[in-house]
Amino acid sequence: MKRRRRSGWSRIVGVSAQSLPSVEPFIQKQSLAGTACGERTEETKECVETLWLPRERTARGPLILVNRQRPLWEGWETDLVSWEGAWEPLSHGTRRPFLLERETARMLQFVLCSLSLTGEIKLVSGYRQRQEQQQLYASSLVEHGEVFTRSYVAIPGCSEHETGLAVDLGEAGEETDYIRPSFPYEGNCQRFRQKAVSCGFVERYQKEKRGYTHIQAEPWHFRYVGIPHARIMEEQDLCLEEYLEFLKGFPEGEEPFLWQEECWEFRISYQRAEEGETPIQVPANQLYRISGDNQGGFIKTVWRRI
Ligand code: DAL
Ligand code: ZN
Repeated sequence: MKRRRRSGWSRIVGVSAQSLPSVEPFIQKQSLAGTACGERTEETKECVETLWLPRERTARGPLILVNRQRPLWEGWETDLVSWEGAWEPLSHGTRRPFLLERETARMLQFVLCSLSLTGEIKLVSGYRQRQEQQQLYASSLVEHGEVFTRSYVAIPGCSEHETGLAVDLGEAGEETDYIRPSFPYEGNCQRFRQKAVSCGFVERYQKEKRGYTHIQAEPWHFRYVGIPHARIMEEQDLCLEEYLEFLKGFPEGEEPFLWQEECWEFRISYQRAEEGETPIQVPANQLYRISGDNQGGFIKTVWRRI
């Protein structure tokens, strides 16, 4: 594992084939708490504890919405890893290591390796700094004009690529169009798509959802939202904008949204953040994850083996 620091990036650690993950790391108990108080209460035999999350945590986590209406929080920092042997082309013919958010990279590597697709699918674009998104937007305006650019390139500050949670993929062997790589609905690309959804990736920009996303269909752009959310979104035919609205219908304290998959039951609920810190009840003895939605709310997902 290489460790190094670069200004503007958080910790960057190399990923190699040896660090191929199983799904287990993603079902560990995960606390995104700033401060967890030790208070516990017995509640219908379940032991719960309270996490106190600051409001800015609503802008962090795999379910954050980033679009034209919801820019990325200025203070965003993410845990980036570099992908061994992969490079991101920059303007003026330069390049830098290909970067993704740590869990996104591990899950992507898991999907590619488990389908033996590492040589068949290429990484086209991952994490972009704000300044890189600005350069891409500006050069696309010059090269392709405003209509094309607004359709396929997110406004700087509003790109999922700035989170490290998004990746553009292309077919190996083809000459790569950096803005619109080829990623057809057949063959290896389709095999990837089918497996990726069970590992937390959604095809983010679909033709039918342009009214919500304001981006044209991008069959090559995958966004990590985590397990089981990608599968739910696919099966309920909801894009991220719709899914987060849907989850608001399951506020904390009422019946959660229930989802079963294989040997797991997931209980998903929404909680609006309070002005200061928000108390969030979490099970002390079960797996859970809390993600912000970048809209002033938290999504809690509790995993229970059935
Ligand atoms: N191509 C997507 C919309 C982006 O630039 O983030
Ligand atoms: Zn993209």
